Amino acid sequence: MMQPHVSESAFEPPCQQTSLKSSDSSESPDSSISSVGVALIGLGTVGSGVYKLLAQENVQGHLPVGIRGIAVRNPNKVRVLERNVEHASFSDPQALIHRDDVQIVVETMGGITDAYDCVKAALLAKKHVVTANKALIATHGSELFELARKHQVRLLFEGAVAGGIPVMMPLKLSLAANRIEAIAGILNGTTNYILTQMATAGLSFEEALEQAQSLGFAEADPTSDVEGEDAAFKLSILASMGFQQHVMPQAVHRHGITTVSALDIENAQTLDYTVKLIALAQKVEASETHPECLTLRVQPMLVPASHPLARIDNEYNAVWIRGHAVGDVMFSGKGAGELPTASAVTADILAIARDLAAGNDPIAGMKIPAMPEAVIQPIEQSASRYYVRVTTLDQPSVIGHLGLACGAAGVSLESVMQRGISPNATASIMLLTHRVTHAQMKQALENMRANGSIQQIDCVLAVLPC
Ligand code: HSE
Repeated sequence: MMQPHVSESAFEPPCQQTSLKSSDSSESPDSSISSVGVALIGLGTVGSGVYKLLAQENVQGHLPVGIRGIAVRNPNKVRVLERNVEHASFSDPQALIHRDDVQIVVETMGGITDAYDCVKAALLAKKHVVTANKALIATHGSELFELARKHQVRLLFEGAVAGGIPVMMPLKLSLAANRIEAIAGILNGTTNYILTQMATAGLSFEEALEQAQSLGFAEADPTSDVEGEDAAFKLSILASMGFQQHVMPQAVHRHGITTVSALDIENAQTLDYTVKLIALAQKVEASETHPECLTLRVQPMLVPASHPLARIDNEYNAVWIRGHAVGDVMFSGKGAGELPTASAVTADILAIARDLAAGNDPIAGMKIPAMPEAVIQPIEQSASRYYVRVTTLDQPSVIGHLGLACGAAGVSLESVMQRGISPNATASIMLLTHRVTHAQMKQALENMRANGSIQQIDCVLAVLPC
């Protein structure tokens, strides 16, 4: 829980001041009366960035936005505002949320439990909320949007998916005339950095991860990133908004990047592909039982070198969307970091403040409607082409065995490549299949495992487009 307040006094950022001044009681109350009041809950990386952006006169223009106070877990740890810290008001989040002069609550504390309590309390108190918390929106979004509708306030979350890249507003507003058919994204900077360095600098997974950590692109514990959980949270939000159907993160079939080796990346390059962790949400053909289904996956995939996502490297993110009217569009940029994410959060704050200041209905434009639960296609029925790398004995008929194992499962091969023989007389063989279902591929792999000459299945990757 957050600490009780240290001091409490109105604080006005420099939209109406040329520099950060002490919130001396003789000036603050007057200067804050006509402005839209913001409570900033959390002052970590994103919160600090929001503070900095709101403190820039040229960013705010003359929009009357004032930070009424900041709630932090431990005021003694506040670093970012070192020069100005004495001017801010550090307060208990509940006290700040309920101030009469606060209209917008900005949740930048992260995590789920405390953030949920804070956002729920704000919505119940009829405050507009801005957050960049993907885990919170992915997990509790449905309930929180319902609360926002009930209390006639906005809940905006542009920063929750792909950091600084504008995608929620474009999806909701600019692409409103479209039926969205597919969304494919590179939604995690850590894994994209690792895969790029493996491909371009020949680093191993471990070396690339260490480098990402030393450059600040990867967390000390990168599990959520490398296992695809972070991207699955983001994909569930994107899919919910894009298809207007509620998608829980658990519905996303996910596979991380830890089994991708430098050899697979090299093989992919030989075939004119690159390996990326792709988050894919796609409408699939209607069937009698499921008139409209979504397939949802986060997994490393072979991406054709000609696809725009193949050119998104290092820590950059991108979201590619196919709409029935617009065709294909792609948004790319920095998906994390202090100022990129704060750029999105601050834009949400300003969007609400602009409407409040102009006397417009602040929920008219970005109201999230109630959504039906998405029908998710069982992963076994999802279809792709596949890349498979196996280690086999170097003896007659091995390629024939592989062909039979696949053929018996209805899997047709598009190409087969063998690259040299290792000193222990094993061969590394790579297969590329035609488009088959996940269930067929699984059966083909089982058939391979049952054959004594096929020693190991090293790597299986789907191929984009699916
Ligand atoms: N850890 C994420 C990434 C950023 O590597 O992209 C926060 O969502």
